[in-house]
Parts: sequence; structure tokens; C-alpha cells
Amino acid sequence: MRIDIITAVPELLKSPFEASILKRAIEKKLVSVYFHNIRDYSTNSYNQIDDYQFGGGAGMVMMIEPIDKCISKLKSQRDYDEIIYMTPDGTTFNQGAANKISLMKNIIILCGHYKGVDQRVRDQFITLEISIGDYVLSGGELASAIICDSVIRLIPGVLGNETSALTDSHQDGLLAPAVYTRPSEYKGWKVPEVLLSGHSKKIEEWREEDALKRTELRRPDLLE
Ligand code: ADE
Repeated sequence: MRIDIITAVPELLKSPFEASILKRAIEKKLVSVYFHNIRDYSTNSYNQIDDYQFGGGAGMVMMIEPIDKCISKLKSQRDYDEIIYMTPDGTTFNQGAANKISLMKNIIILCGHYKGVDQRVRDQFITLEISIGDYVLSGGELASAIICDSVIRLIPGVLGNETSALTDSHQDGLLAPAVYTRPSEYKGWKVPEVLLSGHSKKIEEWREEDALKRTELRRPDLLE
């Protein structure tokens, strides 16, 4: 999978890709991530990428020309499955969307800043608009890092034990069951007996029951 991220502030989102699982996924060539600084596509001598909005009002708007140049260059080099714009008024991201995106070959993610991008960018180039939740960030960069993290860990081979992504919360519509590790007793606090029993069918049943109980308690909306 190839991910091209277009941003005015690349330094805001490089570090998540330089450690741990994402770093290893890149090293193993299971995914490649490229950052494109919109300023490099500015057409005037001040490297301007934003301007006042027509009609007046506070906040700058990202201009269409630098974004058009960047996206058009990328599109001339390969086909893209989706051109995604990170925005609080997009469709709310969830595990289903992560699964879908993880099957794609090439995607572009455009990070907005200030008041957002000129609407014509969205009308002409964007195929998918994603929000990570009903709150406003100062830009799309951190949101795009979240999308990339949740998508990349689903690519086969990225996680050591491939089944472990399948047992995540939300993967089957339920929250994940409780997990424990050694010691089996600490300060008198015990691990549920069944998990120590070695009886795989009973353990599986316990996990299913715990997942359901947790979901009923914490996220009843998921069961509706
Ligand atoms: N940019 C600003 N806020 C955002 C959000 N909640 N989701 C995605 N992109 C954003």
C-alpha cells in the first residue's frame, strides 16, 4: 500500500511513522508513506498557500492552486483508490472504514488547516471526507496519523501475530474482553480461574461472554 499525505506542516506528523509498528511496517515495505509539503507547490514568491475568505470573516482558507498542482502531479503518476480529505464535517471514522481502506493500493490524504480548503478542492478532487470525531483539531495532520495507524496495522504481515488484529475491540462489533498476564495472583487479586485452566473451549466461551458483558455495560449503542 502507498499513502501520499499532503500537508502544510509535515513535521507535525512524521514522528508516528518513525517508531514501533508503523516504522517496522515501512521497513518491511508493507506500506510506503510519502509527505508532500503544500508550500513546495505555491506559485508566488511568498510561498503563500492560504488567503482571506471571500465574503469576509475570520480565518484563512487554503488556496486551490497549490493543492491542485500537488494532487495532479500525483494522479499523473499512478491511479488512486481514494483521495481523502480530513475534516470535522466528514463521515465519522470507524473500524469498518479502517478495514476497507487497508485493502486499497494507493491513497492520498489531504490535511486541512486554518478554516479549511477552498470548497472547489473538495468538489473537484476529493472522493472521501473523514472526521475522527465530533471535535475540532487545529489541522488534519493528527487526524491523518490516526487513520494511518489504524489502517496500517490491519495490512497482513504488519502485526506479528496476524490473528491479533482480528481480536481487537470493534473488529467483530463488540468490545474486546479483559486480558491478564503473570503473575496469576498479585496482592491477593486473582486472574479468573478459567483462563488458567488450559481448557480452550471454556476460555473461548468466557471471552465471548466477557466481550458481550463489557459491550452491554460500556457501549450499549453497539448492540442496537
Ligand atoms: N480536522 C480538524 N478537526 C478534525 C477532525 N475532527 N477530524 C478530521 N480532521 C479534522
